[in-house]
Amino acid sequence: MPTFQRHLFVCTNERAADHPRGSCKLRGGVEVRDRLKSLLTARGLSQTVRANTAGCLDQCEQGVTIVVYPEQVWYGHVTVEDVEEIIEQHVIGGKVVERLLLPEQPHLGDRRAFPTLELK
Ligand code: FES
Repeated sequence: MPTFQRHLFVCTNERAADHPRGSCKLRGGVEVRDRLKSLLTARGLSQTVRANTAGCLDQCEQGVTIVVYPEQVWYGHVTVEDVEEIIEQHVIGGKVVERLLLPEQPHLGDRRAFPTLELK
């Protein structure tokens, strides 16, 4: 069984186009998840880092929403173009992508750096 060092949960929840909260699927959640998976595979990280589909993470207005564990770092307004930066800077390098952080993450405090990925 692989031992994942990081998990990324990507909201792909869909609502009607006229729903007041919007939804991550209509903002590109599936494409963001697919890009994450393909880049992780291309980097040889599919046994080290897992990208999973998630249902609604209750941050709909700020979607596409991603949360990264174990750090529990929440990103919002993520687009396909942001995925490579999240992988290189956070997943591999251990540094949060400041410009994509959702506000109000009190558990994060001042922490902006975490252990780098142990590459095999
Ligand atoms: S629809 Fe994505 S967080 Fe709710």
